[in-house]
Amino acid sequence: MDDANRYPDDQREALYRVIAERRDVRRGFRPDPVPADVLGRVLAAAHQAPSVGFSQPWDFIVITDRTRRERVAALARKHRDEFAAGLPAARSRAFDRLKIEAILDTPVNIVVSCDRTRGGRHTLGRHVQPRTADFSSVLAVANLWLAARAEGLGVGWVSFFDERELAAEVGLPAHLAVIAYLCVGYVADFAPEPELATAGWARRRPLSWAVHAEEFGRRGLPGEEPVDPLADVIAAIAPPDEAAMTAARERQDRMTKPRGSLGVLEEVSVRLAGLAGSCPPPLPEPACVAVFAADHGVHARGVTPWPQEVTAQMVANFLAGGAVVNAFAAQAGAEVTVVDIGVAAQLEPVPGLLPRKIAPGTADFTEGPAMTRDQAMTALTVGIEIARDLVAAGNRCLVTGDMGIANTTASAALICAFTGADPAEATGRGTGIDAAMYARKIDVVCRGLARHQPDPADPVGVIAAFGGFEHAALAGFILGAAALRVPVVLDGVIAGAAALAAAALAPDSIAACFAGHRSAEPGHAVALEHLGLRPLVDLGLRLGEGTGALLALPLVQSAARALRDVATFDSAGVTDKL
Ligand SMILES: Cc1cc2nc3c(=O)[nH]c(=O)nc-3n(C[C@H](O)[C@H](O)[C@H](O)COP(=O)(O)O)c2cc1C
Repeated sequence: MDDANRYPDDQREALYRVIAERRDVRRGFRPDPVPADVLGRVLAAAHQAPSVGFSQPWDFIVITDRTRRERVAALARKHRDEFAAGLPAARSRAFDRLKIEAILDTPVNIVVSCDRTRGGRHTLGRHVQPRTADFSSVLAVANLWLAARAEGLGVGWVSFFDERELAAEVGLPAHLAVIAYLCVGYVADFAPEPELATAGWARRRPLSWAVHAEEFGRRGLPGEEPVDPLADVIAAIAPPDEAAMTAARERQDRMTKPRGSLGVLEEVSVRLAGLAGSCPPPLPEPACVAVFAADHGVHARGVTPWPQEVTAQMVANFLAGGAVVNAFAAQAGAEVTVVDIGVAAQLEPVPGLLPRKIAPGTADFTEGPAMTRDQAMTALTVGIEIARDLVAAGNRCLVTGDMGIANTTASAALICAFTGADPAEATGRGTGIDAAMYARKIDVVCRGLARHQPDPADPVGVIAAFGGFEHAALAGFILGAAALRVPVVLDGVIAGAAALAAAALAPDSIAACFAGHRSAEPGHAVALEHLGLRPLVDLGLRLGEGTGALLALPLVQSAARALRDVATFDSAGVTDKL
């Protein structure tokens, strides 16, 4: 190994230390001015950043005037209020507690701009990738941020601005874009972790999720074997924590209420404690429903009166906020995320839609496997990753949702395959079908089972045989949540079928599952019975989308809150029963 160019140990340590200890700072600023020489060093560090074609597209506008900062603060406040108004309730409460700018608390503010035209048309690199101009200015920000940390200066980046409004306020010509607005000043101390992590808004993703060997998807740290996300997640799933469950049961018995009087919710609270490994468990909020949408080749067999294009149309409805899932999510204070895991239509990119299409619908399972094993594995992995991402984004409870015309047929086949149930018992009328169609639907399920002879000991094979990309992804979603020990509230028959697949892959994953409701689909009761899950709500719903689970969400949250907030006989001085 050639160490000739390596810095001495203490200097390397100092570099890694400044990288690790750089923080986005929004509070605790001291009013002391920043001396000109210190500010000059920090700006010189920024000016040494790499830039595309050495174009140095940045300029730094240094603002100290209080009146100007007051006008800038008003611009940020307007956008903060607009953002807050669009948040689901639980997120909105958390956002209220966050400080997102320190424009008036800091003596110096710096605008970092970008001239996307500097150097003319032959700027090396930028001619093929115009965005590299902006990247270069961002690197100047990074240098500034690190140098400031070494100088003991806190820096907070504020992006709650309309870019042109801010540009006008600081007199930027039209060809310059605002890249960053930075608030700079001395601070009492630097927090050890990002404030957004400490506040529970988001979590750091482990490095092992971010490093891929050779190709995207082959995750693995240098020097280690690539990890198989499914095997990794299965290995991470462990049984519930008995000590936390015992503590929760004991606490329920000491709470100021007759023993057992919270009925099923007591067991829910005990399970939440066992999952979290702590008593009381964290509150399962904020919550996010992920609606996995896909189409089904078996639609061609005439198992539903609804045309296939309704799947894509309903996805548009979810994204526009017009479906029942949106109404129930708004009521429960949950966020809605829609995942295109296999819709048979091209969907336009819009906020709230995760484009993860495996294929435009599955194949008809009466003619062959609905999907390949590779596709099943990919869909499972997508589900795992979405669970991880939603948890990293700060969610403490996941909710399953689904959309896919003909997916009750695929669900019935999966449920029969995993439980051995009779198709006549597990197949339902879905969205409402007549007797002839119902008979055909049962026959389709029977033919599928006869054709594939599914082996429940090979869950990936069963998923591949009967599909539903949404079933596969939901199974991964459940496994991903279970590995992170975050509760998942299950919706109806589609989630039930997916949970059977998850249980077949990792039986302990069911410890993370709470059955939101019992759907009117008969297969759902079969699935819940097999899983040993008791539904919390039984209202004859058969809509899907995540609606039944969302109705149960406040029940799961109340169970956790009761365990946390209710006084005990001893603490409240209430006399216990003799
Ligand atoms: C592009 C960019 C924009 C940001 N905008 C804001 C912002 O508007 N308000 C805020 O409070 N923090 C903002 N931040 C700071 C991040 O929230 C912060 O960097 C992140 O939580 C990680 O914390 P750390 O910087 O302390 O490691 C921004 C950061 C970046 C990189």
